[in-house]
Amino acid sequence: MDNTITLSFVDKKNILSPGELEDRCRQAAPVLARAVAGDPRYQDFTGWRTVDESASPERVAFLQEQAARVRAGADVFVTIGIGGSNQSSRAAIKALRPKDGPVMLWAGNTISAREMADTLETLDGYRSVYIDCIAKNFETLEPGIAFRVLRQYLEKRYGETEAAKRIFATGTPGSTLHQLCKDHSYTFLTFPERVGGRFSVISDVGLFPMAVAGIDIGEITAGMRQMRDRLFAEGAEENIALRYAVLRKLLLEKGYALEMLSFFEPRLDFFAKWWVQTFAESEGKEDTALYPIVSSNSEDLHAVGQYVQQGRPVIIETFLTVRERDASVRIPPEPKKDYFDYLTGKDFWDINEAARKGTFAAHSQRGIPCLEFSIPAIDARTLGQLYYYFIFSCYLSCELLGVNPFDQPGVEAYKHQMFQLLGKY
Ligand code: PA5
Repeated sequence: MDNTITLSFVDKKNILSPGELEDRCRQAAPVLARAVAGDPRYQDFTGWRTVDESASPERVAFLQEQAARVRAGADVFVTIGIGGSNQSSRAAIKALRPKDGPVMLWAGNTISAREMADTLETLDGYRSVYIDCIAKNFETLEPGIAFRVLRQYLEKRYGETEAAKRIFATGTPGSTLHQLCKDHSYTFLTFPERVGGRFSVISDVGLFPMAVAGIDIGEITAGMRQMRDRLFAEGAEENIALRYAVLRKLLLEKGYALEMLSFFEPRLDFFAKWWVQTFAESEGKEDTALYPIVSSNSEDLHAVGQYVQQGRPVIIETFLTVRERDASVRIPPEPKKDYFDYLTGKDFWDINEAARKGTFAAHSQRGIPCLEFSIPAIDARTLGQLYYYFIFSCYLSCELLGVNPFDQPGVEAYKHQMFQLLGKY
């Protein structure tokens, strides 16, 4: 199978003038060169860049061993974490749907009392529970309180010694979470110092829960390396990550305000959430950037599709198209008259493909700037490529916008208000 990811652009309204994209890519060549070489300005945040630093083959083998122990013992595994610390593994687990191994649950990504109560009740229904609390500095409220509740739940159920064998935590060496693990013999995994939450898929943070779910993290990291090699080798004009970053910047300059990621496989829903987080939290600063939104089709065509076709023309659309024919369900003949006979014998896969092509045609004919990523399949190798691709292009995109890709000062505003209400100060 050809596992190349391609990017194309359809611009029926000639929003860009001929050669404009290539000119701007050429101008941006120094940005690409800095990112490839490793920019000293961001040396504290780019531990993911080489893949090998934060996800070496030895580390992957170690995580696979740890995961095998969990898989041998667990009926259910709870990943505790929020934002960048849980999105990437959840995206892969939802997309690759492993059929065996423990049931995967998530906590610490909400403060809803109902959700927490339901999780505890759900866990009662399983014989063997394991948890992993992922928190970079262990200061974030959501994972902090979920970990306390779930830790106590395990201790009550299994006793302190047995519970400790079932508790994993992933944090920065030297953090209070690390100390907690040392004091109580929990297994400690590494949240690399030089990797931030939304870039942490290339580390224990993203890879360990995936391995517990039964995903081949050797393939995920092989995909990351494959994409790294490609992006480091391609020149500015043809570089698929720079072209994407430049296109987004040009379209922002021409007045577009939103980028919609559209796809026709709902198992990419959580991957899309990860994409939203990656771009929104990295770029949404200093009053700039495209606002990332999602259309999970064909369902959302019956909702936001109306706005896209006839609402304010401020949206660019990025299609994620899957080439592999990965399932087949044919429409059977039906003697009862239901007026769907024109579809008899056709496959769901082909009908979905017709919906995708029809949507692309209708939206591009309206004049919406349409980008399309064609991906070979929804598999571990491809997801690995996509993870590396989007974080690298997001970094380039931030550089073109002139914002720091690696901080998120804006998220402190609501926390400040909340902490006052909770009496923290
Ligand atoms: O991308 C980020 O840095 C954030 O989304 C963090 O991952 C999120 O806020 C959770 O942080 P922490 O792991 O420190 O609890």
